[in-house]
This record gives sequence, structure tokens and C-alpha cells, in this order.
Amino acid sequence: MKTKVLSAVSAVAILSATFASAEPSAEVLHYWTSGGEAKSVAVLQKEFADNGGTWTDMPVAGGGGDAAMTALRARVLSGNAPTAVQLKGPAIQEWYEEGVLADISDVAEAENWAKVLPASIADHMKCEGNWCAAPVNVHRVDWIWANADVLKANDIEMPTTWDEFNAAAEKLQAAGVIPLAHGGQAWQDATVFEAVALGILGPDGFRKAFVELDEATLTSDEMKAVFDQMRKMRGYVDENFPGRDWNLATAMVMNGEAAFQIMGDWAKGEFLAAGKAPGEDFLCASTPGDGFLYNVDSFAMFDVDGDDKKAGQQLLAKLIVGKNFQKVFNLNKGSIPARTDVALDEFDQCADLSAKDMQASSDSGALLPSYAHGMALRGAQAGAITDVVTSHFNSDMSSEDAVQQLLTAVQNSM
Ligand code: BGC
Repeated sequence: MKTKVLSAVSAVAILSATFASAEPSAEVLHYWTSGGEAKSVAVLQKEFADNGGTWTDMPVAGGGGDAAMTALRARVLSGNAPTAVQLKGPAIQEWYEEGVLADISDVAEAENWAKVLPASIADHMKCEGNWCAAPVNVHRVDWIWANADVLKANDIEMPTTWDEFNAAAEKLQAAGVIPLAHGGQAWQDATVFEAVALGILGPDGFRKAFVELDEATLTSDEMKAVFDQMRKMRGYVDENFPGRDWNLATAMVMNGEAAFQIMGDWAKGEFLAAGKAPGEDFLCASTPGDGFLYNVDSFAMFDVDGDDKKAGQQLLAKLIVGKNFQKVFNLNKGSIPARTDVALDEFDQCADLSAKDMQASSDSGALLPSYAHGMALRGAQAGAITDVVTSHFNSDMSSEDAVQQLLTAVQNSM
């Protein structure tokens, strides 16, 4: 006990010593460029500046972060890594293995992260037992968003099974409404696919397929049923879907052009930024089926020279897990805090549902990492799955062929 206290005290001392000797600065690479996202990252920029930090913004547009990850690789390869990077899931450990991440254990210990973060989240932030990333939030991926007026006008309830979803979609289509707002980008296809897969395979089947890469599950009849449902989904999107950004798809739900969107709760950040109210203008529900797909945004610090940058990394890490930041940021972002001790009374009904379902799923073993958002698998494996999902969605590939291709893709990615 004594040593623990001592080490926490000395960590604080190291921190303040660093702050005293250099003015914190940070170049921050992130992909938060939509309306709701920009509002959210501005909260961090402000807190950083209020605490004496100088922020150099490096936003790389592109939902899901694929473009940001390409930009990151180029920077690291040229020996000029950014100070802090929006990075998550196993990609954190992949970068650590390349020897380019900074250890932020001193901040984590001084700030008692082990106490305030759930173990499942903390595990993602560690590299060989040391803290190498700071978590911002918990996004849920398996959400369905709807325009409240459009559902009402067409006498449709939020669907609780995929059959109900299909019946609603067909009714909407007959009434001239686009059932599903979607953007044809690989990560968005993967987002819809994993929500459908969770519903049809169930939490255990999802884990077997997308965490354990179990070959029998990847080629099972249930997986064929997942692709059958994806074929139906393809019929529910409008013809202008290719390439559309996710936030433009959200806007289609907002303005009543489309009824539903299947997207993580960063979509709620868009609704809120546009002044829309949950339960009135838009509705939220988990996609049909049990379980909870989590997607935790976090920042990793790269190994950089310069006391100002090192001080910037320490300040950023401290602020990110700070109680006030976790509240204000997540109110804007659509997610819920990663910290367990932030009161949710200022949050809305969708956030309450997320927190409640997350706890229940954690208790029942149905809390699962999102494969589509880089939480479950290494990049090569997730990419291999997404390639099949996208080529199935954009062709007339049969479900039988799709599961065979899934198996081959996964085997080749190992
Ligand atoms: C990230 C979110 C982001 C979304 C759209 C997700 O993978 O976790 O923070 O808002 O992509 O870019």
C-alpha cells in the first residue's frame, strides 16, 4: 500500500516537473470533421488551450478513419510522427509493436485510470502491461436511427426483428420513401453488415465469427442468412448511395428523405448538432437482436522529441480521461463516457439506453468489440472481411459464394 501511494505521488511530481519546464504543445491527427464531430473535438482543443497548450490540428476527413490511418503511416514512415493520434483497438498494439508509441503510464497512475475505467476498456489501452492510449468514450455501433414523423406518417413502429425491418422497408418503398439511408463506402457496408450479423448470429455466433474467426461459423447457414439479409438491404438503399459520406446519409433521415439509418451513435452527434431532439424528431433503438457492439475512441501518443511535445502528450492524456471532458465531449459526440464515475443525468434517452444495455450485455457475456470499427481484429483480418462484404453488396454474388470467399479471405489474412 505504502509503495503504491509513493509511486502515485512521485508520478504527480514528475508530471508537474515536466509542465513547469516546457509549454505543452501537440499536433493532433484525427478524423473528426463532420458537424457533430467537429463540435466534439473543439471541446478538447479548448480544454488544452485553457491549460496552456498549443494545439496544431491535423484533421484527415473520411469516416471510419481509413484515410487518417493512411496519412499516419506516411508520417511515421517519414520519421515525423504526429504527437497524438486518434487510434483504437488492436491498431494500438500493432503500432506499439513497431516501437513508435510513447508510454503514458505515469499519467495513468497519477490519475488513477485503473480505478475509473472498466477493465474491458483498460485492456485495449495497454501494451505489454503499460498504458499506451487514453480512452475518450464508448460508442455503440448496433443502432438504428429513424425519422419520427416519417414512421408516424406511415404507421410504422421501430422494428424489433429483421422481418419487421423488412416489412417496414417494403411499406416505405411502396409509399415512395427511401427505407435505408446509406453511403456506399466499405466501412459503412461493414457497419450495416456487423449489425445484421449480431442480430442473426447472436452474441456467441458473432464472437466466434469476428473475434475467434471460427471457420465453421464463417461458412455456416446462419452466415448465409446474414448475406441474404444484406442482399435485401441493398434493395432498400437509393441509387445514389455509392461514395456518400455517412453524415450525408444521416441528413437524409433528418430531412425525411429516408426513414432509417444503421450507424453508430456518432450519428446522434449529427442529429444533436442540427438541433434535433431524440424521441421527438428522431428515434433510436438497438438493431434487432441481443448484444452490444462497442467502439472505444482513444488517443495514442507517438514517440517524439521535444519537451514541449512530451508535456503536450501528458496534458492531453490527463485531460482526455478527466471527468469534465468525458462528460462534455460525449454529450456532443453521441457516445457515453468511458469513465464509470460520470453522472449521466444530463445525457439523453439514447445514452441511457446505451449505458443500460452495455451493463446488461457485460453481465451476460454479450458485450462485443466491433469488427467494422477496428476493435476486434487486426487490420489485415478486418480488411479481408470487409472486402468480401463490400464486393457482395455491390454485385450479385450469392450468399453461398460470399461465405466461401469469407473463409478464403480470412485464411489468407492470417
Ligand atoms: C469512430 C467515430 C467516428 C466515426 C465516423 C468511427 O470509427 O469511432 O469516432 O465519429 O467513425 O468517422
